[in-house]
Amino acid sequence: MAGLIRIEVMHGVNLDMLGKREPEHYGTLTLDELERQIEGFAGELGVETRFFHSNFEGEYVEHLHSLRELVDGVVLNPGAWTHYAWAIHDALATAALPAVEVHLSDVKAREPWRQLSVIEDLCIASVSGKGIEGYRLALTRLRDELAGAEQAEDAPGAPGKIDGKKV
Ligand code: DQA
Repeated sequence: MAGLIRIEVMHGVNLDMLGKREPEHYGTLTLDELERQIEGFAGELGVETRFFHSNFEGEYVEHLHSLRELVDGVVLNPGAWTHYAWAIHDALATAALPAVEVHLSDVKAREPWRQLSVIEDLCIASVSGKGIEGYRLALTRLRDELAGAEQAEDAPGAPGKIDGKKV
C-alpha cells in the first residue's frame, strides 16, 4: 500500500438531515460539520478520507461497486437501510474491502427492528451509540487493520515474498 491509507466514509438515507432530525438520538451537528470532524480525526490518525452520501439505495449500491480500486477500506453508516437492505449487504460483499459499521445512536438499545444489521457479518467491527466519537473509533480500527495487513504483506516469508522481496 503506497502512500496514505484511503478510507471512504459513506452516509446513507436521511443522514443529510443531521442537525435537524431527532437530536436526542443523533446530536446537533449537520452532516457537513460531522464530515469536518471526521477529517480532523483522519488527520490525527494519518489517513485520508473521502465522503459520499445518498438517499437513493441504488446510488449507494453503485458507489460501493466503484470503490474496489479507489480506496483501502470503508466506514459506513447506511441509516435505516442497515436493518433491511440486503442489496447493500451484497454490494459491500462485492466491494470486498475491510469495512467498519458506525451508528451515532445505540441501535441495539432502541426499537426491535433496529437490532438487525444486514451488514454486520461483513464488517470487521461495528460501533454504535458513541455519537461522532464512533467515527474516530471506526477509523482507528480500520487504520490498525490495514496497517497490520501491510506489515504482514511485508514480512519475510509471507505468501508471494521471498526473503522479504516482492515476487
Ligand atoms: C442510524 C440508526 C438507524 O437505525 C437510523 O435509521 C438512522 C441512523 C444511526 O446513526 O444511529 O438513520 O444509523
